[in-house]
Amino acid sequence: MCGIIAYIGKPDKTLHVLIEGLKRLEYRGYDSAGIAVLGSSGIRIVKSEGKLLNLLSRLEGVSLNGSPGLGHTRWATHGVPSERNAHPHVSGKTVVVHNGIIENYQELKDELRRKGYRFNSDTDTEVIAHLIEDFSLKGFSLEESVREAFKLLEGTYAVAVISEREPNKVVGIRKFLPLILAIGDGEVFLASDIPAVLPFTRNVVLLEDGDIAILEKNRFRITDPEGREVKRDVFSIDWDPITVEKGGYKHFMLKEIHEQPQAVLDTIRGRVFLEEGRVFLKGIEDSWVADVNRIVAVGCGTSYHACLVGRYMIEKLSRIPVDVDLASEFRYREPVVDEKTLVIAVSQSGETADTSYALLEAKRRGAKTLAITNVFGSKIARESDVVVYTHAGPEIGVASTKSFTAQLVVFYLLSLFLGISRNRLTDAYSLQLIKDILALPQLLQHVLRLDSEISALAGEFYKYKNFIYLGRGLNYPIALEGALKLKEVSYIHAEGYAAGEMKHGPIALIDEKMPVVVVAPQDELLYRKLVGNIQEVKTRKGRVILLTSKGSVNEFYGWVDRFVEIPKTPYLISPLISVVPLQLLAYYIASYRGTDIDQPRNLAKVVTVE
Ligand code: AGP
Repeated sequence: MCGIIAYIGKPDKTLHVLIEGLKRLEYRGYDSAGIAVLGSSGIRIVKSEGKLLNLLSRLEGVSLNGSPGLGHTRWATHGVPSERNAHPHVSGKTVVVHNGIIENYQELKDELRRKGYRFNSDTDTEVIAHLIEDFSLKGFSLEESVREAFKLLEGTYAVAVISEREPNKVVGIRKFLPLILAIGDGEVFLASDIPAVLPFTRNVVLLEDGDIAILEKNRFRITDPEGREVKRDVFSIDWDPITVEKGGYKHFMLKEIHEQPQAVLDTIRGRVFLEEGRVFLKGIEDSWVADVNRIVAVGCGTSYHACLVGRYMIEKLSRIPVDVDLASEFRYREPVVDEKTLVIAVSQSGETADTSYALLEAKRRGAKTLAITNVFGSKIARESDVVVYTHAGPEIGVASTKSFTAQLVVFYLLSLFLGISRNRLTDAYSLQLIKDILALPQLLQHVLRLDSEISALAGEFYKYKNFIYLGRGLNYPIALEGALKLKEVSYIHAEGYAAGEMKHGPIALIDEKMPVVVVAPQDELLYRKLVGNIQEVKTRKGRVILLTSKGSVNEFYGWVDRFVEIPKTPYLISPLISVVPLQLLAYYIASYRGTDIDQPRNLAKVVTVE
């Protein structure tokens, strides 16, 4: 994981750029942070264990003028979180920051030690610095040294390098991990992602695998691994830099929960045509899906839960059978897919290693591939045949919220497209489904008004040590998602179950110390059965928090502990609404417990290791 930033340009601006960039990259890892600036008296490095805040207090009162500069925020893989293992890493006159893993680092380390290099950290990264320095000492230029060193390195990486020997250059290289180049006025940047540079420029180049970028303050070149120049397009990014600020909210998570009406509106916009009763998803034609006889949806964590909801939607509207797999399992099962299978890879970041490898495996086996992702030009977007973007805007909080609802919207639209394309839906029904999704942003506004009520509820329940979440049908994945949210931000143990499974084991856990959150919006099929499941829990003295539709509360008075009333919605829309109170509940419970909500321990927003 880790976040990297590099800058070459105005010496009095370097430190500011590095710090602002790192603030926006900290979601990628926060075990340590560090910077390097090349000034008139050589390279100065400041680093610190833990969050960026620690580094910032070290930098207080320090004047660091110079250019170029490097910055890094770390999610530890090789070597414990410590100052010694914090980046940048140095060898002689070479300084390096790295995101990724060097798989053959041990052999290289042994070899470098035999040559007399001393290691000052336990990281795999340090071999990169020594290798580049070694080639430089043999007379290679910085660019050549990087090229030669990377011929010896196995693994995945995005790296930025500076050297005192060539103080007017930054060299960057990427393989499998994200690295973008951005162009300002007399300044050029490298960063792990776009938001890191948004305060300074909107002009961005998405580097491709194997690209080596050579930055000087007024120009840049990109070459392939052999040194041949390659051309890449410059994109102008229309994200508003303000969307990557907290905007008055205490945490990004809360802000992003409240951004959901806008996120779904932006994801729907331009894709449904009410008058024609039609759905348009760029790149997906009737002919492209005509021979698809099976769909496999893969993702991790929250994105996996979106796949589970997607299965219900697609099967209901198109009758195409759907399998859902954890991306981390798919690749190793010798998956049975062929050219008539559509494999859908779902990933907010578009960089998750497990999902990317699953996608590549599906392609290798001849499947059609479609990505649902939030990040323009991300790895998974580029690797798939077709991309449908969620337009949720940058999501900074480690816990996925608005990207999840946007993913569900894409699944809804895709299901509708497939249903129409297969003639499975009457005109009247498709029209109704379109109207239903268009009403969603307003319904979300409505459900977000529960904010203070859920905050009070959290105040009653935050001391419990375990939670169970139950749901059925479309809301079973929502129970899983509610439990995941609670776990990751509050560190409370929580399990999600299909409510019908309770009696097959988990019911043994129920007693007066077990809050059970039941997601039971009133719908045609499953509501009655859920009422039965709630009775089973109450009989065993479990404490039931019931999430149900307005109008159905009366029948529970007296025997359910707490209610949360959500708007009554059509069945296929209900998961998009019921997930919101669960996100808020997790947020406020975590807030009462005083955890680090946007950067929970041990986690990172982008998971680029298997
Ligand atoms: C969600 O809250 C988690 N932080 C995590 O499970 C996440 O959904 C998972 O790592 C997948 O990420 P992606 O969507 O970027 O691929």
